[in-house]
Amino acid sequence: MSVISRINEFLARASRLLLGGGKEALESQKKKGKLTVRERLDLLLDQGSFIETDLFVEHSAQDFGMSAKKLAGDGVVTGIGRVDRRPVAVFAQDFSVAGGSLGRAHAGKITKMMDCARDMLIPLIGINDSGGARIQEGVDSLCGYGEIFYRNTQLSGVVPQLSVILGPCAGGAVYSPALTDFVFVVDRVSNMFITGPQVIKAVLGEEISPEDLGGAMTHASITGNAHFYARSEAEAFEQVRSLLSYLPPSSQELPPEAPPRPPKKPVSPDIIPDDRRRAYCVKEVIRGLVDGSDFLEVHEHYARNIVTGFARLGGRSVGVIANQPRVLAGVLDVDASDKAARFIRFCDAFNIPLLTLVDTPGYLPGVNQEHMGVIRHGAKLLYAYSEATVPKITVIMRKAYGGAYIAMCSRHLGAGFVVAWPSAEIAVMGSEGAANIIFRKEIEESPDPEATRREKIREYEEKFANPYVAAGKGYVDAILLPQQTREVLVSVLAVSRNSTHSMPLRRHGNFPV
Ligand code: HXC
Repeated sequence: MSVISRINEFLARASRLLLGGGKEALESQKKKGKLTVRERLDLLLDQGSFIETDLFVEHSAQDFGMSAKKLAGDGVVTGIGRVDRRPVAVFAQDFSVAGGSLGRAHAGKITKMMDCARDMLIPLIGINDSGGARIQEGVDSLCGYGEIFYRNTQLSGVVPQLSVILGPCAGGAVYSPALTDFVFVVDRVSNMFITGPQVIKAVLGEEISPEDLGGAMTHASITGNAHFYARSEAEAFEQVRSLLSYLPPSSQELPPEAPPRPPKKPVSPDIIPDDRRRAYCVKEVIRGLVDGSDFLEVHEHYARNIVTGFARLGGRSVGVIANQPRVLAGVLDVDASDKAARFIRFCDAFNIPLLTLVDTPGYLPGVNQEHMGVIRHGAKLLYAYSEATVPKITVIMRKAYGGAYIAMCSRHLGAGFVVAWPSAEIAVMGSEGAANIIFRKEIEESPDPEATRREKIREYEEKFANPYVAAGKGYVDAILLPQQTREVLVSVLAVSRNSTHSMPLRRHGNFPV
């Protein structure tokens, strides 16, 4: 065969494989309102940057008619590309090829990219669109999943791992995304569940749609499995690109720096309402402090009583954790503790300093929370902050009561710099509750109990509902006006860049999961 014929043969083979499951299967994918795997990679990666690997890989399964089946790329496209000029390793399952089902060879292509991400210390991005374990391959496909889960865990804290769910993600397959750092879902495109509708019908006799079982908003708002929710695939890829811009490629490096920019709308001096019971939106405070007022919120729809996300201060990435007085008065509960603890641990793993904004009346009381394990879940927040060795800066804006004062990155959990605004109230509990307990007898025995109650509340407020007692003991480093805060935060962050911290040797701590 001449060289020209060999080249032509190669081109013919490659173009067949690039068509995945063929025109009809790709059409059917489009009819479902989904992009094809190649369109997805085009949206995610810088133009012309994709270097594909293993296009010619074939499965070696024999049973159930598989020996006669040619599956292009074995249902997954893998390779290295660039996002905003920075390298990433990617795999994208191709539903047009055997439903993107995962067999031995398919899994081998994915684990090869995972090893590549580990060796090159670059982020791993997975696009999931699959019917799960390839049924015809039996235990071989289970082995494939096991090897992926193992690597997800080994890579955890080494390189950022992102999962974009763009189709079904069912059965045990959901555990790979669940082991990664961030999960992206798209309205009416993504489904995640352990047990599918058919099985539920057979076992429980209940009719339930995949959407109700585990659609995009369910995972973004109820289960918390998804960190980012988008209305279209294009929007999800924008979110991926934006997220990566805040992250280092691995735990070995610092996050990239950007030119510093002032906030578009600096924090207003009167952001804290006069009436301490009135709410305000903490996102306004965040945007008023950070560069360009740009804030990429993580878990926007889940546990909205706490806000987490990425921003920049003086060009440097920070992870922001803030109580949201607008939702449940900013209380800490089971879900808020989980959400914040996970975010803190991610930031700590990847050298991203923490900025904590405090305004919380405390942990949510009541039977429901106690029975849901608020002790165990709340402990995660304490643990995550205490364990974190990145620079930790805290701003107490208003209420910092009780255990929540400690938990929201107080000096006692290792905060490096604690600021309080003049509106800060640092106490064991709110003045009303406190006065009613410690002055109960005096109030009851008084000729005018209401007047005495008011007086005692005022007395307690004067003593503790301010930042001066804590500042007087050095628990607060500086009292600043809201409008002075950004400049100080930028300077403190610049100084803390090279801060060091050493810990006694141990295998690992026992995080209260
Ligand atoms: C082999 C599969 C497959 C699978 C889909 N296909 N899932 N082939 N193994 N798991 C094939 C179909 O046979 C079909 O092939 C093509 O993909 C498209 O599938 P459709 O059913 O036509 O598509 P759609 O109607 O959109 O339905 C998608 C679906 C459904 C909801 C995902 O296919 C489905 O329910 N699949 C099975 C899901 C499942 O139970 N998976 C196992 C989960 S357990 P043809 O040739 O007709 O085009 C698991 C264990 C992992 O994953 C354990 C890890 C620890």
